Amino acid sequence: MSLVTRRTVLTAGAAGFLVSAGGGAYAGLIEPTILLDVTRYQLTPPGWPADHEMTIAVISDVHANEPYVPIGRVKRIVETTNALKPDLIVHLGDHEATHRFVRRRVDPKEWAAAYADLDAPLGLFTVLGNHDWWHNRRSIRAALDRAKIRVLENEAELLSHNGRRFWLAGLGDQLAHWTGQQGVFRGADDLDGTLAQVTTDDPLLLLAHEPDIFARTPARVSLQLSGHTHGGQIYIPGLTDRFIPSGYGERFRYGHIVENGRHMIVSGGIGMSIVPIRFGVPPEVLLIKLGGSPVAV
Ligand SMILES: [Fe+2]
Repeated sequence: MSLVTRRTVLTAGAAGFLVSAGGGAYAGLIEPTILLDVTRYQLTPPGWPADHEMTIAVISDVHANEPYVPIGRVKRIVETTNALKPDLIVHLGDHEATHRFVRRRVDPKEWAAAYADLDAPLGLFTVLGNHDWWHNRRSIRAALDRAKIRVLENEAELLSHNGRRFWLAGLGDQLAHWTGQQGVFRGADDLDGTLAQVTTDDPLLLLAHEPDIFARTPARVSLQLSGHTHGGQIYIPGLTDRFIPSGYGERFRYGHIVENGRHMIVSGGIGMSIVPIRFGVPPEVLLIKLGGSPVAV
């Protein structure tokens, strides 16, 4: 069987499963609301010292809401993340869900209080996502501030881990403002202004909700961490590729992406937007180990 034919059969099989009763239960209940994977990466990207071992837990796109990602699920995410004992925890934005299937908003104070239990020596940092900007930005920001969760919006902070310094920068959202034109947005991102705050040669990590900025992220950034795409959310190669919410489609959809020596990891995230269905991209927390020897999987 040729590769093209095999892919066509697999695509048809996945699509058939998705519309079956069992597939519907899996995509509408099991994958989005029960599964929670831990996906591990180990890398020493350019600029990061090989002898500086540090772990980062990454939470992204939780999209809290009742009934699909209720506060109990948020607490399970917190427990799962704490059990990894990371040195640093980052959240890549899209804290809330806004799709029309949401029955009740989870008050930002509730989920922010749950996140306040996240425990890492270097703390928790977050950026805001497009859904945070479009709907409840003010109350989300206030809840994060009240819970003492550090929000990086076009800001860079110099941190120290085991006596080694590194910069952690967070970008403003690239789709923050709707222009009034279908599908056209103006960003609140300021990459140049953010990088201008990096005043030493120490390694630099960049948090950016949407991956698309990676097309112009300079090599000065050792690693960019992004979410937003949900890995396609309903991902059947050859069938749903056109719905990937990135101007670069499959290129920036998911996983560890290396281009011209520059590194980005895109998380598939946890929650859902538009429809409360996930298929082919189980919710995940990432554990990224920088430097040192590979982690056991
Ligand atoms: Fe999202």
